[in-house]
Amino acid sequence: MEDRPRLFGVAVSHYQVEGGDPCDFTLWEKAGRTRGGPCGDAVGSWERYEEDGDLAQAVGANAFRFSVSWSRVERRPGVFDEAVLHRYRRFVDHLVARGLEPMVTLLHYTHPEWFHDAVSWTSPRSVEAFARFAKRTAEALGASVRLYVPLNEPFVAVLGGFLDGQIPPGLSNGKAASRAFDHMLAAHAAATAAIREVNPRAAVGVAHNIMAFAPERPYGLRFAGLDPLLARHAHRVYNRGLLEAFATGRWSLFVPPLTRLRGRREDLTSSLDFVGVNYYSRLHVRCPGKGWKAFDFAYRDPQGRGLTDNGWEIHPRALAGFLAEASAITGLPVVVTENGLADAADGRRTRFLIDHMAEVGKAERDGVPVAGYFHWSLLDNFEWLDGFEPRFGLFEVDRNTFERRARPSAETFRRLASRFLEDPPTAL
Ligand code: FCB
Repeated sequence: MEDRPRLFGVAVSHYQVEGGDPCDFTLWEKAGRTRGGPCGDAVGSWERYEEDGDLAQAVGANAFRFSVSWSRVERRPGVFDEAVLHRYRRFVDHLVARGLEPMVTLLHYTHPEWFHDAVSWTSPRSVEAFARFAKRTAEALGASVRLYVPLNEPFVAVLGGFLDGQIPPGLSNGKAASRAFDHMLAAHAAATAAIREVNPRAAVGVAHNIMAFAPERPYGLRFAGLDPLLARHAHRVYNRGLLEAFATGRWSLFVPPLTRLRGRREDLTSSLDFVGVNYYSRLHVRCPGKGWKAFDFAYRDPQGRGLTDNGWEIHPRALAGFLAEASAITGLPVVVTENGLADAADGRRTRFLIDHMAEVGKAERDGVPVAGYFHWSLLDNFEWLDGFEPRFGLFEVDRNTFERRARPSAETFRRLASRFLEDPPTAL
């Protein structure tokens, strides 16, 4: 670990900004499986990445998290596209020349079109395939990339892809989910080993989605049902499960009512240098649920502060505790790898930024090693199931011209960046 400045940056992912990606998600949209329609040209970043880097620099960031498209890099199994790798390399060089540290995600939800048929996460061959892609990418990006996140939100990817069928491969099968999770964790460890071999100075993390859970009917005068128990269970499974797997090499996740996922991977325990936390919102849980459902989850607005444009509650107060917990479980520094909101009118983003950074500050005062913060997102982009409606950007994007224009809250981001970066570094 080296003495380097802390990171204050922005985050994007390839599919959501690049456009024209020949991957499984494109097929998924064509099959009409999303609510939000096709991603198409997204926001044109494949041609505009350098401009995006400049925008990040202009708002005071010193880091830029983006992902590499596996489907572009390895269009056919084992055949790597040098021109594509070179395009990402040019972007990295551009970022570095502007004082922005790249953080590179390798799997941000999408796969090559061939992946689910030819390899599939349910097969051990996926481990080798992913490690090969990681190695080739790390070699091509070179020594200027130190920070890697092999997997974005692996637990969500397994829930969405293998248990509730919302994203490719669209399965709903406990056994398959269990195997997929096991292989994804092994793939993380194998990718980390490959990255470290290429670049011994690398620091590798995982971006883990953490959600606050509250009982819809807390204990008190009213009948609370099993809501408080379910809220605690959801926290244990959804928030702590993955981190405990990294800490102990063993995992056992009970997803009520029927699914239990378990496994053991010893090499996991030495495969992380930092924990990334993606934090957005809070869910209110109810058990039993309405009708015949075992349970319900819903966003609510108990404080009357209003929900975001896509209906998520804004709940900053949980963040400091989650950062402390993530670091305590793993014994590692933490980075907020994503945090943001859909707010087209920009009426809430300033307060959102200030309140969440206050939580980051609180965690640090409590002794939590926080190595950085990344805002989701630099720009409006394509949201997986909801399309272009939710506007997550510090920069607004014109849907016809792709012109980027700063929202007023970008100025708050700039002020917070300069304050955050004054403080001494946390080792990463
Ligand atoms: C996160 C995803 C990211 C984006 C935000 C809104 O869970 O990692 O790609 O969709 O949600």
